[in-house]
Amino acid sequence: MKIIGINCSPRKGKTTQKSLEICLKAAEDSGENIETEIIELAGLDIHGCTGCGYCRKQPKCSQEDDFNALIPILSAKNVVGIIIATPVYLGTMTSQCKAFLDRTVLLGRNGSILHNKVGGVLAVGCVRNGGQELTIQAVQASLLCQDMICVSGGIKSAHFGAALVSDSNDSIDCDEVGQETARAVGKRVADVAMQLNGK
Ligand SMILES: Cc1cc2nc3c(=O)[nH]c(=O)nc-3n(C[C@H](O)[C@H](O)[C@H](O)COP(=O)(O)O)c2cc1C
Repeated sequence: MKIIGINCSPRKGKTTQKSLEICLKAAEDSGENIETEIIELAGLDIHGCTGCGYCRKQPKCSQEDDFNALIPILSAKNVVGIIIATPVYLGTMTSQCKAFLDRTVLLGRNGSILHNKVGGVLAVGCVRNGGQELTIQAVQASLLCQDMICVSGGIKSAHFGAALVSDSNDSIDCDEVGQETARAVGKRVADVAMQLNGK
């Protein structure tokens, strides 16, 4: 069973990546049969949806960009969960995140690929109350539109999703509480996915 993490930062390998790695490590530690993969959107050319309707007729997008390479990865039969990780930009998700989420409409129109997959969300901002929870809920709205099953980190940890704070050195080491919310989300995505898949 695979859980895919999407890093929606335009910066490779920075605080969102580190947070997602912590989250997915906790997912892997939750069950022997859980494997994970991270896709970094940084450097990929993924445009926003143009609403042309092309994907209503075939499982393809009219735009020739890097999203097409992600379709088979996201559609693989062993994918049971997806964790969306985004920096907070002006109180919500990055434009890279929104473009990616909008393009997944293709998966919904061609076999409801994301139906009943478990979804978790992680947001990193540079201040404690910088909009992480609003960002998490905005992403969850998109996942719900795809019939995904959204989970949080649980009542004792993160009521909506993982919320982390980065410092001026581009580090999350200072935020042990936030890292714990990342672990909690990873574990819950894995636990619920295993339950749903009878493991
Ligand atoms: C354009 C822009 C807008 C931002 N807006 C916010 C914000 O509203 N709230 C916040 O807490 N941090 C904000 N930040 C800070 C980033 O969310 C933070 O530095 C985050 O750790 C970056 O993730 P990355 O290191 O993976 O790129 C903003 C950064 C940029 C570049």
